[in-house]
Formats: sequence, structure tokens, C-alpha cells
Amino acid sequence: MKKLDPDKLPVHLAIIMDGNGRWAQQRMLKRVIGHQRGAETVNMVVEQAWQLGIKYLTLFAFSSENWSRPAIEVRALMSLLKKYIRQETARMMRKNIRYNVIGNRSDLPDDVNQTLDDAIAQTAGNTGMLLTLALSYGGRQELSMAAARLARDVMAGTLTPEQITVDTFGTYLDTGGLPDPDFLIRTSGEMRISNFLLWQLAYTELYFTETNWPDFTINELHKALADFQSRERRFGKTSDQLTRGSHH
Ligand code: FPP
Repeated sequence: MKKLDPDKLPVHLAIIMDGNGRWAQQRMLKRVIGHQRGAETVNMVVEQAWQLGIKYLTLFAFSSENWSRPAIEVRALMSLLKKYIRQETARMMRKNIRYNVIGNRSDLPDDVNQTLDDAIAQTAGNTGMLLTLALSYGGRQELSMAAARLARDVMAGTLTPEQITVDTFGTYLDTGGLPDPDFLIRTSGEMRISNFLLWQLAYTELYFTETNWPDFTINELHKALADFQSRERRFGKTSDQLTRGSHH
């Protein structure tokens, strides 16, 4: 395995965990089994990200659009999520990991919300990695809700239109306070963003692999991170400006 440079890892790693259903169908198994295996990959990635010292890990676990799946699959995903969080909270405490959720929590079943609240409260004092789960999350939904909150503040007179900048707008998003992702991995061969973190991914390096999420391994994660380390991030500047450390 290629050695990773500990100084050049993403501060914020985001992942679209795709391909659970196809993984299962290819094996004549129920889709739910694919999600169960996917949860094991989540464990591996959390462990690795923690070991590497990645500060922010954000996982797309359930999209706003996923509600239109068959009810049996939605129910299975919700119960898997609940089970995972209950089961892993002790480990999160040992590893100093804090839970965070983005997305429309009011859509989630009460028992799932209760489990999330407990886990968030229990891990609130942890200062290591921030593990953000995107649940019932959609980028456009997040942006329109941010716009609505902003409009309310303008109407209430606590904010003027002139004060709406890239930075102030960012604080109205669910991710307010989090740095933008440096690196996004999407598994299972689809080359789309699928309504994930639309605002936040503006300068993110994107990585796509054919591997389905349940088959995603430590080696693949390291390969992806090595790829990230080989890239030059210019943020609209020239190469030359970057090597001179120019601030213009
Ligand atoms: C995409 O695969 C995956 C999901 C919609 C759910 C992701 C959930 C997990 C990995 C497990 C539980 C999560 C946590 C955080 C414990 P897909 O079903 O869209 O696959 P397909 O495109 O092949 O049908």
C-alpha cells in the first residue's frame, strides 16, 4: 500500500455510499442485506478516518428522494440506522467522536429521532472527529430552507440584504460551522452528485470508483486518498501563484 502523507489528508471527507442494492441483487440477495453489509463498510471507514486523524467525515446515508423507495426498504433502513447508532455509540465515546446530523429531521420517525438525540447528546462533549450523517437530506431542500430562514431574518430586521455574503449564507445551511469537504468519494460507478451538498462541494475534489459500497475496502480507501494527495488544488488560482504561496 502506498504510504499516505499525514499532512496532506482531507480535513473533511464526504462519501456517497452507493451500490448496496446492486451488490445484493448481483448475489440474488434481498436489498436489505446489501444495506446491512454497507453498514459494515461504514464501520471500517469510520475506524480508518479516525486512525488517519481526519477531522470531519460526512456520510450520505438517506436522501430526501429515498423516501419514495418501497416502504419495506425504507423501514429496514430506518431500523438499521437506529441499530447502528445504538450499537456504536460506546465506540464513538471511546474514540472521542461526536455525532451530527444534517437533513430534514422532521421527516424521520420519532424513534429514530429519539435515538439520534440520545447519541448526539451523549457525544456532544467529544472533540475528536465529527461524524455527520446526512439523513433525509437534499442539497436543494437545504438551500431553499436556508433562503427561507434568511428571508425571515431580513423581515425581522436582524439582517440586511447587503449582509448576505457567501460567508453569511453558509451559516444558514445545515452545515454551518463545518469546513467544506476537500474530498468526495462516490462508489458504484455513478458519476453524479445526486443533490448532495450542492453549495459545499464548489471546490471539492471528486473521486468515483466502480466498486459497490459493501465491497469498498481499506485498500480502496487508501487508494482514493493517495489519488487526492496527487492532485493540485488551485481554487481558481494559477499553479505558479500556489507555489509562490501568493495570497492574491
Ligand atoms: C445506496 O445504495 C445506499 C443507501 C441509500 C443507504 C446507505 C445506508 C447504509 C450504507 C447503511 C446504514 C448507514 C449507516 C450510517 C449505518 P442503493 O440502495 O442506492 O444501491 P443501488 O443504487 O445499487 O440500488
